[in-house]
Amino acid sequence: MNFDLTEEQIAVRDAARDFAQNVLKPGVIDRDREQRFPVEEVRQLGELGFLGMMVSEKYGGSGMDTVSYVLAMEEISKVDASTSVCMSVNNSLVCWGLETYGTEEQKEKYLVPLAKGEKIGAFCLSEPEAGSDATSQRTTAIDMGDYYLLNGTKNWITNGSSASTYIVIAQTDVEKGHKGINALIVERGMEGFVVGEKEDKMGIRGSDTHTLLFNDVKVPKANRIGEDGFGFTFAMKTLSGGRIGIAAQALGIASGAYELALAYSKERQAFGKEIYKHQAVAFKLADMATDIEAARMMVMKAAWDKDNKRNYDTSGAMAKLYASQVAMTHTVEAVQIHGGYGYVKEYHVERLMRDAKITQIYEGTSEVQKIVISRSITSDK
Ligand code: CAA
Ligand code: FAD
Repeated sequence: MNFDLTEEQIAVRDAARDFAQNVLKPGVIDRDREQRFPVEEVRQLGELGFLGMMVSEKYGGSGMDTVSYVLAMEEISKVDASTSVCMSVNNSLVCWGLETYGTEEQKEKYLVPLAKGEKIGAFCLSEPEAGSDATSQRTTAIDMGDYYLLNGTKNWITNGSSASTYIVIAQTDVEKGHKGINALIVERGMEGFVVGEKEDKMGIRGSDTHTLLFNDVKVPKANRIGEDGFGFTFAMKTLSGGRIGIAAQALGIASGAYELALAYSKERQAFGKEIYKHQAVAFKLADMATDIEAARMMVMKAAWDKDNKRNYDTSGAMAKLYASQVAMTHTVEAVQIHGGYGYVKEYHVERLMRDAKITQIYEGTSEVQKIVISRSITSDK
């Protein structure tokens, strides 16, 4: 077993760290307060090749492995989880699905600009009445011969107003249940496609989460991904990889909070000594360091599974379940170590605490991860 990173992986991690500290950190508190999408920062992320990290160079991507991707996700998420969710959706939910299952024409037209960071993508599965219960899609894509007529509402869509390319999951044949679902590529500007209200959120406030409305949108047949009825399998397979990205995001939020708490504990004095010299604080730091290391191993293992063509449905779900729990628990502890200073925006940990919560909800709640894991460990296959 070799735990060493390659020189390339180290270079990617260091570039992401520099970007996070020097470009993202200065404005992150204001963007959170003002709910402002990081337009310029995301543009620069694209120039660095971080929006199409795992896409092959042939399609304008960086041709990197999943381990490099999670290293970058951790570093970006330590500082700005609103930026990292945009990065995660574009890389793992949009680019990966298009490269793996798209036609050559779809790759040339849609994947290339997304991988180069010239455009941003969104993944639209959730609906007001279909979140965890994702097979209960009410959005319809009626087969009209050479196009689908798309009607319905998607909600909670990340990159909702900043994207140009949307992968929309919709029901074509209700009788066939989940086998009657399709995944369609919808372009911003198609007639009948409206970007609705923006959500006012607890955390990741720089991310633009919107409701999307589709009223008789004509989507060409050429924009369907895969065979007729492949849409639900497409969504599940795509989410299996996406969950590794969100696990890395949770890991980053936890490790960012830990690094801040550790540094603060060496500066802050109480009862005549630095607070880390009080065992109650030192033990909190020990628990944080241990849990974060365990989460990192799980995230790396899931990424390694994906890179080595092993099954990563379960390892990715486990990594997300565990890392998101670590993020929630230890961001709360990081605020505690900061005392009153932890409760104000200037010290960053209160934002990390608010951002941590979403990692237990999106790309499958913690309960959904337990469904995936328990079905896998009890299956006879
Ligand atoms: N790969 C391939 N196929 C899969 C699969 C996988 N990982 N998981 C399930 N399937 C297939 C099953 O084999 C089954 O097909 P067959 O009948 O042909 O065998 C079909 O999909 C239906 O599967 P289930 O019977 O297991 O379906 P279910 O109704 O019991 O639901 C579930 C399973 C895991 C709960 C699923 O509905 C689910 O993942 N829900 C959560 C949805 C989710 O994660 N949404 C995230 C939205 S995106 C997002 O959130 C982005 C963001 O925030 C940034
Ligand atoms: P519900 O499914 O209604 O769940 C409510 C509660 O019941 C949860 O605790 C859940 O775990 C529990 N529950 C439900 N079913 C079961 C069960 N069978 N067993 C045990 N417990 C159960 N979606 C997208 O498609 N694209 C996006 O880009 C996207 N971005 C998002 C960004 C944000 C900020 C947010 C908040 C959400 C985003 N989502 C996105 C939606 C997200 O994936 C869903 O919110 C999530 O899947 C949960 O669905 P729900 O909100 O409908 O909750």
